[in-house]
Amino acid sequence: HPKTDFSGKNILVTAGPTREALDPIRFLSNHSTGKMGYALAAAAQSRGADVHLVTGPTCLADPAGVKITKVVSALEMHDAVLKAYPQVDIVIKTAAVADYRPKEQAAQKIKKKAGELTLVLERNPDILWELGQAKKNQFLVGFAAETDNLIGYAQEKMREKNLDLVVANNVAEEGAGFGGTTNIVTMITRAGQIIKLPQMTKLETAHAILDQIRMLANYR
Ligand code: PMT
Repeated sequence: HPKTDFSGKNILVTAGPTREALDPIRFLSNHSTGKMGYALAAAAQSRGADVHLVTGPTCLADPAGVKITKVVSALEMHDAVLKAYPQVDIVIKTAAVADYRPKEQAAQKIKKKAGELTLVLERNPDILWELGQAKKNQFLVGFAAETDNLIGYAQEKMREKNLDLVVANNVAEEGAGFGGTTNIVTMITRAGQIIKLPQMTKLETAHAILDQIRMLANYR
């Protein structure tokens, strides 16, 4: 890859899970480790971009040369992303954002009692949807984590969220999705092109996604 094909570009990448607190001890979350998003941040940085990584809690080392904002909940990620949005050229939303949070956050540890415990959840904002509505010149890339009807749901997300590219992965597939070092993704363009990539490391996948963005956004 030419070292500078993204030089002068401001790229915002989100990564990792969010945590939605129930009380000071417990939270709801998901299996994202941040690997895919961190790989994208590192790949873009190595190609000359100014990268801002907004990440939920992960065990990964901070990528070198990248501005990092660490958040915990979906609401915090929402605020950090919306604040950065006006200054960026490209947004890649790899984070697995919780769609719901507990409606009540207990100030003290919830104690166990006899019988069932019912949790009431309320909707979190859809960050990517909001970015799509507020879009000016930004190139907007969403991910789609599905377990069935991969292409259909990804195309739906493209339309509903006003995206320029969707990267879909079947998280039920061996070698793809959460946790591992590889992914198997299908990219869907706004023009309706469907590009299926083979199983590759997350870093190789990141570079292939950047190649596609560069082509579609017409950089050099
Ligand atoms: O982190 P790893 O362990 O490496 O795993 C990688 C991954 C599986 C997390 C990644 O490849 C992936 O698929 N990320 C998207 C996960 C996801 O939440 O997908 P979704 O289909 O639920 O959401 C669609 C898009 O909307 C995503 O770009 C998401 O960031 C965004 N979204 C979702 C909900 C919400 N409230 N706000 C959002 O912005």
